[in-house]
Amino acid sequence: MRRTENTAPTVPPNNVSGLDETALPEAERSRRFWDAQVRDRRYTSLDGPGMLLFDDRLVALRRGREETTIQYLLDDVLRKTSLRVLDAGCGTGRWSFWFARHGAQVTAIDFSQEMIDRCCERQQGLWESGESGTANLITFRQQNAWQVDDDGEFDLIFCGGVLQCLDDIHVSEFAQRASRALQPDGVVLTRDSVLCRRFDQDGDYPVHYRRAAEYESAFSANGLTKVQDVGAWIHPQFITKLPGWFPLSGRPLAFAVDVDGWLLTHAPLRWLLPLYQRLTGRGIGAVPDHRFFLYRRRSQDA
Ligand SMILES: C[S@@+](CC[C@H](N)C(=O)[O-])C[C@H]1O[C@@H](n2cnc3c(N)ncnc32)[C@H](O)[C@@H]1O
Repeated sequence: MRRTENTAPTVPPNNVSGLDETALPEAERSRRFWDAQVRDRRYTSLDGPGMLLFDDRLVALRRGREETTIQYLLDDVLRKTSLRVLDAGCGTGRWSFWFARHGAQVTAIDFSQEMIDRCCERQQGLWESGESGTANLITFRQQNAWQVDDDGEFDLIFCGGVLQCLDDIHVSEFAQRASRALQPDGVVLTRDSVLCRRFDQDGDYPVHYRRAAEYESAFSANGLTKVQDVGAWIHPQFITKLPGWFPLSGRPLAFAVDVDGWLLTHAPLRWLLPLYQRLTGRGIGAVPDHRFFLYRRRSQDA
């Protein structure tokens, strides 16, 4: 039985002609960016736009590290029988399928219809290859993360690489909706790039690299207490052991962000600065850490 459910779009259609794109609201520009990532096949099985800049072995290393981190943080949660998971901003479904393989019933949402279509193709592939057990556990639908309205439905809400795409108001809105969508003992696991000083990028790919404390307070104000956070940045000590990681594309570090006048780089990366500047003529402002945050829902009477 095919469980995929494509509900009516909750965001405007993609082909609004004659519009000045820079005048579009941030969320719409962001959605177009992610749609294009899939359409132009920039967002491939590597599951990340920046990942194409890296050597395959580095990608494997990062994925392995993320998996180990998630296993570690969700050790108790993953043991639960009849686990219900919401994968908010599922992308091409990497983690949705992973949770389903752990036996969870997964609802996976993304505001990009192209991402959802890609997930459905992958799900179809599972049915065809006889893995219907896993495929039947997942329902995909197009939806904005901050418009989740399934009250008390989930034991776990996973949100990987999504909050950095949202403005502050929508981060708070998401935290509030997530808190309501959880079972009383439910948890939220997020993964985002964080910096020691906030950096906001506008344009085609609007992104907000926040400080860890900003996420913690937005979640805390909405009934979710941080219980743990773990960094998953792969340090250059590892990277340089992998030949070919340093493409001369003008963006040697996919995660590097230019902030004129600021030198906020993590200490272990400082030695890379002169080389980076010579190659690109640009200064590195900061190198974000990929950080996981685990939040637990506070009891209503606490
Ligand atoms: C960096 S990708 C991460 C995908 C996946 N969670 C993973 O960890 O591999 C970010 C995803 O978030 C989605 N996204 C961004 N803003 C969103 C929003 N407001 N509502 C739902 N999805 C959103 C994008 O379409 C994209 O698929």
